[in-house]
Amino acid sequence: MNKSIAFKRLYKDYTSKFIKNIFFATILSVVVALSTSATAWLLDPAIEKIFLKKSQTLIFIIPIAIIIAFSAKGISLYFAKLIMINVSEEVKKMLQIDMLKSFIKADTEIIENKHSGKSISNINFDVDQITKMLAEAYLTIFKDGLTLIGLLGVMFFQNWKLSLIAIIMIPLASIIAKILGKRMSKVSTEAQERSGDLNRYLIDLFKNHKIIKIFQREKFENNRSEKFVNNLKEKNAKIAAVYIRSTPVMEILTGVMIAVLIFYSGKLIIGGELAINKFFSFLAAMMLAYQPVKTLAKVNIAINQGLAAAERIIPVIDLKNEINMNDKSENISVSKGNIMFKNINFAYQSNKEKQVLNNISVEFKGGEMTALVGLSGSGKSTLLNLIPRIYAPRSGSIELDNQDISRINLNSLRKEISIVDQNTTLFDDTVFNNIIYAKPDAAADEVYEAAESAMCNDFINNLDKGFDTLIGENGVKLSGGEKQRLSIARAFLKKSSIILLDEATSSLDSETEEKIQKALDQLTQNKTTVVIAHRLSTILNSYKIHVVDKGKIIDSGKHEELILKSSVYKNFYDRQVKKN
Ligand SMILES: Nc1ncnc2c1ncn2[C@@H]1O[C@H](COP(=O)(O)OP(=O)(O)OP(=O)(O)O)[C@@H](O)[C@H]1O
Ligand SMILES: [Mg+2]
Repeated sequence: MNKSIAFKRLYKDYTSKFIKNIFFATILSVVVALSTSATAWLLDPAIEKIFLKKSQTLIFIIPIAIIIAFSAKGISLYFAKLIMINVSEEVKKMLQIDMLKSFIKADTEIIENKHSGKSISNINFDVDQITKMLAEAYLTIFKDGLTLIGLLGVMFFQNWKLSLIAIIMIPLASIIAKILGKRMSKVSTEAQERSGDLNRYLIDLFKNHKIIKIFQREKFENNRSEKFVNNLKEKNAKIAAVYIRSTPVMEILTGVMIAVLIFYSGKLIIGGELAINKFFSFLAAMMLAYQPVKTLAKVNIAINQGLAAAERIIPVIDLKNEINMNDKSENISVSKGNIMFKNINFAYQSNKEKQVLNNISVEFKGGEMTALVGLSGSGKSTLLNLIPRIYAPRSGSIELDNQDISRINLNSLRKEISIVDQNTTLFDDTVFNNIIYAKPDAAADEVYEAAESAMCNDFINNLDKGFDTLIGENGVKLSGGEKQRLSIARAFLKKSSIILLDEATSSLDSETEEKIQKALDQLTQNKTTVVIAHRLSTILNSYKIHVVDKGKIIDSGKHEELILKSSVYKNFYDRQVKKN
C-alpha cells in the first residue's frame, strides 16, 4: 500500500459518497474567497472617494458594502466548516464500522496473531488522523487557496511591481512546508507505533496483575512503564517541535518582506507612480493573504499524516479470509453424525515449520463419545478446532456423514456443533445474555432450563441480581468451574448434534466435578461427542479412546485394550488413578 493507492481508496469507498456536500462546501469556499478579496479591494474607493474626494453618498454605501462582504464571508465559512465536519465524522464512522466488521469476520487465526493494543490504536488514533485531514485539509486547500488567488488578483490590480516582490515569499514558504511535511509523516508514524506499544503494555498489565505481585516485579514494571511513556512523550514532543519549526522562518521572512515593501513602495509613492489609496488597498490584500499562506504552508502536514494513517488502516479493512464461508454451497445434512479425518496435516501460520498435526486419519462414531488423551501440547485442542473449521487443515479432508466439510455451507456446519472450551471466556454482559448468546431467538424459559440442566442454578441464585447480574470485565468474576457450567448451559441451549468438549485441566473439587459430570452426561447423550479428557470418569465412559502424541494418533481402543498395549496410555492412566 502506498499513499496514492490509500488516497484513491479513501476517495472511492468513503468520501465520494459525500461528493454533493463537498461540492457545496467548495461553492461556499468561493464565496469566502470573493468576499475576502472584496474587502481588500473596497479600501481603494473608500480612501479615494471618501477621504480624498469627500463624497457624501459613498460615505454610506462603502461601509455597508464592507459589512455585507464580512457577513457573507463569516456565514459561508461557518457552513463550509460545518459541512466538512459532518462529512469527516461520517467517514470516521464508516471507517470504524468497516474495521470492526473486518475484525469480526476475520479468521480466528488472523486475530490470534494480531495484538489487540495495536488494533485499538488503529481504530482510534489512525481514524482520527484521517478525520482531521478531511475536516481541515480540504477546506484549507480550497478556501485558502481561492482566497489567496483572489487577494493576489487585488494586489496585481493595484500595483504589479509591488506584487511581484511580495510573491517571492510564496515559493520559499512552500519549499519549507514540503520539507517539514516529509519529516512530519515519519515522526507521526513513529508516534503512532509508540502509542500502540503503550496500549499493548496496558493490556498486558491488567492481564498479568497478579503475576506482577507474586513475583514482586513492581519496580521492574514501574521502570518499564516509564520507558513506554517516555518513548511516546519524545515522539509527541518531536511532532510538536516539527510542527512549529516553520514559525520563526515564516516570521523572519515576513519581516524582511515588509521592510523591502516599505522601502520600495516609499520610492514609488515619492516618485508619483503609486496613489496612496491603491497602496492601502494593496497593503490590506497582502496582510489578509498572510493567514491563507500560513495555513496552506502547513496543510501538507495534515495530508501526510492522514494518508499515512490510511495506509495503516486500509489493509485492516481488506483482511482476506482463508476459510471460505461457502455461502452458496449446499447445507450439511446430518444423519448418523459420523466424523472422519482423512490424512490431516496442520501447522499454525505463525509457526509454519512446526507440524502440529501429522497425517491424522481417525473416525469419531456418530452418537457416541470418543475421548482424546495425550500430553500437553500434543495437538488435541488443535484437532478439535478443525471440526467447526476454526482453523483449516493444510492438507487432507474432514467428512461429516460423508460430506466434505470444506465444501459445504459453513454456517450450516457450525449450527450443528457446540464447543465447551478449555478456558471459557464470557462477554461483559449479564448472566442471562451470556447464555442466550448461543441461541438469540430462544425464549426466556429455555434459557432458565438450560441453566438448570447445566447445574448453574445454585450459583446464579446466589448472585446479587440472579440472571441479571453483570459478569466479566465490568462485573462479578466467576470461578473456573462456574464459567465452565455457563459454557455447558450454552451448549444445552444450542441443542446441536455434535458436542466438542475440551475439559479443563485444573482439577475441581469432587462435588463440583460430580455436578459437571452429571450435566455433561445428560448433554452428550446420543450425540456425537469428541472429548479431550483429563478426568478418569470421562475416559471410562467413552466408546473409544485415541492417544495423541506429537501430532499423531499412536494408539486407539477401549480402556481395557489400551491399558495392555499402550505404555503412554498406561502412564496417563496410572497418574489419573493416583490423583483420584
Ligand atoms: N494459536 C496458535 N498459534 C501457534 N501455535 C499454537 C497455537 N495454539 C497452539 N499452538 C501450538 O500447537 C501445539 C499443539 O497445541 P494444542 O493446543 O493443540 O495442544 P493440546 O494437546 O490441546 O495441549 P493441552 O493439553 O495443554 O491443552 C503446541 O505446541 C502449541 O504450542
Ligand atoms: Mg488444549
